[in-house]
Amino acid sequence: MSLSGAILQVRNLSVSFGKIKAVNNVNFDVERGVIHGFIGPNGAGKTTTIRVISTLQVPDEGGVWVNGQNVLTQPDSIRMNLGYMPDHVGVYAGLSVHEYLEFFAMTRRIYGAKKASVIADVVELTDLGDLLDREVESLSKGMRQRMCLAQTLLHEPDLLILDEPASGLDPRARIEFRDLILELRRLGKTVFLSSHILSELSPICDSVSIIEKGRVVAHGSIDEIQTLMSQGKTSFDVTLLKDPGNELEPLLSQLPGFMLVMIQGKKFRFEWTGDVEEVSKVWELLSTNGFVISGISKKEDNLENIFMSLTTGEVQ
Ligand SMILES: Nc1ncnc2c1ncn2[C@@H]1O[C@H](COP(=O)(O)OP(=O)(O)O)[C@@H](O)[C@H]1O
Ligand SMILES: [Mg+2]
Repeated sequence: MSLSGAILQVRNLSVSFGKIKAVNNVNFDVERGVIHGFIGPNGAGKTTTIRVISTLQVPDEGGVWVNGQNVLTQPDSIRMNLGYMPDHVGVYAGLSVHEYLEFFAMTRRIYGAKKASVIADVVELTDLGDLLDREVESLSKGMRQRMCLAQTLLHEPDLLILDEPASGLDPRARIEFRDLILELRRLGKTVFLSSHILSELSPICDSVSIIEKGRVVAHGSIDEIQTLMSQGKTSFDVTLLKDPGNELEPLLSQLPGFMLVMIQGKKFRFEWTGDVEEVSKVWELLSTNGFVISGISKKEDNLENIFMSLTTGEVQ
């Protein structure tokens, strides 16, 4: 069954552990060929959702379709076309990087010349060429993540499911990992990846789902979420030459559309509802009352702000 052109469809998904509703009626789609961020604080239900998608966890209710196939009835077929990277990478004592890749190729029944050629391809893509003889245990976290990603690519899946792939990486390794994700999109893959740190993902994602306490609180393209959140409001940060004391709020609150959000010394932030052009009334009123403005900045509704306003950071 295919409900739309999406590569991944999550419908009314619920998973409980005893009294904890880890995933509570979650719905979203992921379009083919995008990088989709699955973002939420620790304990929000990301790994549980990912385990259902990856055919490792049976849901209590609802379902997941990958390429139109149901995880419950067609798990083998889904696994052929899905690369899953768990949040914790197991330790493989005594194995070299090359042996590790060989091992995983064989678990996917890839042998002979085909095995050599897919390993060579993933090694090149993930830049593991100089590390093939190194013991897995001696690798840095960043190298290990690349090796793990190489492993998930061996059977040439269209969909990659990466659980917190950037967690614990140093800044350089994180940038290298992001570049690799972008390269995978260029190669036509769909990448679904989770994080509890929004800024890790926001620069590279085409769309996101934000999950908290088992519920998706927002889902869509970055643009759609921004529109949803701003709802006609624009925020401005203003710096005055002198501290206005408590004169500011009574003065500006007479303007319809003005709402003071924060005031701290010479700086204040306000929200303006309605026509952005009309905000000049604020500047006029300030200057006719003798307040000199030394700086104005329009606050962009970036994903970080959206995330902060959508989530409380609480876990259940
Ligand atoms: N196997 C399990 N047994 C009991 N509780 C679990 C299990 N797995 C997850 N949970 C609980 O479900 C909730 C969601 O966990 P998880 O999906 O791991 O969240 P995230 O990956 O977003 O940090 C948490 O409260 C967690 O403690
Ligand atoms: Mg997790």
